[in-house]
Amino acid sequence: MNGSEPGPELVADATTLAASIDRMAAEISAQHPGGVTLVGVLKGSVVLLADLARRLTVPANLELVAVTPYDGTEGRIRVVKDLDGTIEGHSVVLVTGIVDTGFTADYLRRHLESAGAASIRMATLADKRARRLLPVRADHAVLDAPDRFLVGFGLDYRGRYRNLSDLWAVDGEVLADDPDHYLADLYGSPGKGGDTLRP
Ligand code: IMP
Ligand code: MG
Repeated sequence: MNGSEPGPELVADATTLAASIDRMAAEISAQHPGGVTLVGVLKGSVVLLADLARRLTVPANLELVAVTPYDGTEGRIRVVKDLDGTIEGHSVVLVTGIVDTGFTADYLRRHLESAGAASIRMATLADKRARRLLPVRADHAVLDAPDRFLVGFGLDYRGRYRNLSDLWAVDGEVLADDPDHYLADLYGSPGKGGDTLRP
């Protein structure tokens, strides 16, 4: 790293995130006394999904979906891993890692509607409202995110940084040049990543 370039900035530590997820779980439990189906979006939601599911005080079904990544250039989003079970008539909470432009969440809401969900609410780790291009509203957000590139707690850059227990803001242009750039800072070792970190 050169001397003038800022390092990663902590956005929320694990303790802060846990307290906020507790509140989210209490809200969702109160709204769904008869139980709920959580639909997690791979892979960015998996850390939130695991924590949220265990904090709910009502029964929950878990489903997972995956879509082609929306990178802001290509207009088409497509489901690459669909629901395994039926959600017809279910009260659904769609759980995403981030709502950025809103294209992914909007697409998936319509997908869940056509699968017959009785109700759909949106929960996300990071609600980046400043970036929204579609009028998508997160009903539940762990945090109102700054307009920065975020990694950790499930969020990645090309597969890196997903398993960090805190949430960090980093420089997207630096990452575009060198996806491994923050590994040493964020994992506390001089590693440039092993093969296992390369998707
Ligand atoms: P959308 O723009 O709301 O459709 O979000 C598109 C996708 O971009 C998200 O599902 C994330 O995979 C990715 N994304 C957007 N912002 C960030 C970020 O700050 N960190 C990591 N991934 C992001
Ligand atoms: Mg990603």
